[in-house]
Amino acid sequence: MTIEVVPTGAALGAEIRGVDLSQPLGDNVFALIERAFDEHGVIFFRDQKITPPQQVAFTRQFGEIDYNIFGERWSVDGNPEIVVVSNVAEDGKPIGVKRAGENWHSDMCYTPRPPRGTMLYAHEIPTLHDLPLGDTEFASAAAAWDALPASMRDFLAGRRATFDFVGRKRAFPPTQMEIDRNPPVTHPIVRTHPKTGRKCLYVMRDDCSGIDGLESDEAEALIAALADHVVKPAFIYRHQWRPGDLLMWDNCTVQHRAIQDYDLPQRRLMHRTTMGGAVPV
Ligand code: OGA
Ligand code: MN
Repeated sequence: MTIEVVPTGAALGAEIRGVDLSQPLGDNVFALIERAFDEHGVIFFRDQKITPPQQVAFTRQFGEIDYNIFGERWSVDGNPEIVVVSNVAEDGKPIGVKRAGENWHSDMCYTPRPPRGTMLYAHEIPTLHDLPLGDTEFASAAAAWDALPASMRDFLAGRRATFDFVGRKRAFPPTQMEIDRNPPVTHPIVRTHPKTGRKCLYVMRDDCSGIDGLESDEAEALIAALADHVVKPAFIYRHQWRPGDLLMWDNCTVQHRAIQDYDLPQRRLMHRTTMGGAVPV
């Protein structure tokens, strides 16, 4: 079987064909997948049939599993590494996190070591007369950085922003314990990808509450302008899901958001894993 990496044609993203993730991957195949992941920011595999332990094992190849705060409330039975992302309720009780990631963000940017990447495996995708709903949009924060004028890049170099866990509205409000466990952190606004050396913007409206050395008005205006810049159409790939898709994104160079254009009885059910990361530089 030959393996192909087929770029989406957008500013980021590639499909990988010819890989069956239910089978062990040779070192060469894994190296090719990892290179494609680092280079394209988003990669996906269609028509996969994998079990929860297989998803966990594949995720582990990219780094230690990161446990999301939501996992404590909504994980797969027997696989605490997997968070259920879903709008489905059974007997009136939600089976997963609903409306996860409605606004543009990078996962767990409010932690000192945000995850390297996140993986979603699509079990059920809502449709309307066969039209798939519940797409996910991805923006290349690296292409957005490349497109900035030189004077803006100079202005941003070396600056750090504060990321605050309580800034974002969530469908399930966090508990006081979760808030206490996630005090504000700072990260560089301009990150360097640890594998490729590519630079990218790391700023989001909801999570960033300030920028070191700037008055709050000036910081707020800069955060809004940069966050909007990252998600301009030229930098976006929009993924239309099919059941059996396994897709992963890089939380350094990519921001994402879930499109909420469906509701019960249309069901969406995803299994999510996260791979541990490092302190951003
Ligand atoms: C996430 C997330 C988007 C989606 O799981 O981190 O943002 O489309 N999900 O489900
Ligand atoms: Mn997310």
